Amino acid sequence: MKALILYSTRDGQTREIAARIAQTLVPQQLCDVQDLAETRQIDWSQYDRVLIGASIRYGHFDTALMTFVTQHRQSLQQRVSGFFSVNLTARKADKRSPQTNAYTRKFLEQSPWQPDCCAVFAGALRYPRYRWFDRVMIQLIMRMTGGETDTSKEVEYTDWSAVSRFAYEFAQLPGKSL
Ligand SMILES: Cc1cc2nc3c(=O)[nH]c(=O)nc-3n(C[C@H](O)[C@H](O)[C@H](O)COP(=O)(O)O)c2cc1C
Repeated sequence: MKALILYSTRDGQTREIAARIAQTLVPQQLCDVQDLAETRQIDWSQYDRVLIGASIRYGHFDTALMTFVTQHRQSLQQRVSGFFSVNLTARKADKRSPQTNAYTRKFLEQSPWQPDCCAVFAGALRYPRYRWFDRVMIQLIMRMTGGETDTSKEVEYTDWSAVSRFAYEFAQLPGKSL
């Protein structure tokens, strides 16, 4: 049996985190890593574990996330499952838990699927790669929240050791009988 890791990304950071988790799991656990936006049919019989990661843009996860978890609720719930969210609010330590990160808390409240473990990771701020409108908007948000405002900068806030710890936590969750 394998683990399925699905990610929903706009700029690639969530994909990088998913890849790191897969790398951490691989010695003991085979993994498939897939973009949620490109996922059509899933052969669930191959998987006994599933992890979903998604990033925030302008206050929201991609709508494909809720559509997916609603559609696959039963398959997700039957397996050992985890969720991680990626956003810039989580660069602040007090906004980095599933309870204190508003996007994640709201998702867990609304989701018909309740994962067995959950984490929140800070993402990346990459001003030079954003189009003009997004750059201006993010700079405004950063100014309001005491973050980096120099638009020549790229800052990666992701705590990679926390990502590895989460991968171990996920791997150690006891299996479910399918
Ligand atoms: C246009 C834009 C809007 C964003 N909106 C938010 C937001 O509302 N709240 C937040 O915490 N982070 C926000 N972020 C930060 C992203 O969540 C962060 O850059 C993350 O690393 C993106 O992950 P991805 O590369 O997997 O898409 C935004 C980033 C961009 C570029």
